[in-house]
Amino acid sequence: MEQKDKKAKFTAMTEGTAEDWGIIAGQFMPFASKVADRVLDHLRLLDGDYGGFPIDRLQHCLQTATRAHRDGRDEQYVVMALLHDIGDTLGSYNHPEVAAAIIKPFVSEENHWICEHHGAFQGYYYFHYLGMDRNLRENFRGHKYFDACAEFCEKYDQAAFDPEYKSEALSFFEPMVRRVMAAPLASMYKQAVDAA
Ligand SMILES: [Fe+2]
Ligand SMILES: [Fe+2]
Repeated sequence: MEQKDKKAKFTAMTEGTAEDWGIIAGQFMPFASKVADRVLDHLRLLDGDYGGFPIDRLQHCLQTATRAHRDGRDEQYVVMALLHDIGDTLGSYNHPEVAAAIIKPFVSEENHWICEHHGAFQGYYYFHYLGMDRNLRENFRGHKYFDACAEFCEKYDQAAFDPEYKSEALSFFEPMVRRVMAAPLASMYKQAVDAA
């Protein structure tokens, strides 16, 4: 029987054995190593989704990442920029946190923080049009990553709605996503991943 067809015998984890977990662990790495492909597939769900904006959400992500790349940002930052709105589909009410959770094992604390908080910082440019407080970001004033998050929104995110801008295609960023997501820098499963 091929490794991928083997299954554990337990019906509850209390009944699990080392043999069961050997089977599961053996299939975890091939599955986990494809996370970049699943993320890219999910990002493509934003294609054609305008939500009233001048460009669709995929183009906005590509434009944000392209602007960051052309401004000389490193690969990890560019991947964060590319994926910063990937949570729009599943996290309509908290999309920054969804994206931040996806990239967390693979990026620096700073890049994670920028992604997780970009919604509040982006609000500086429009919350006042919706009866909200555009200065919501002030709740984070003094945080060590405040300026970095404000800069991400100012230079790349809020500026990435131009239909005339020539962004790179998703294929340009795919190798970057695969490299950044090739192995976790931190994860509660890291010990098992490293041993596999
Ligand atoms: Fe966003
Ligand atoms: Fe955005």
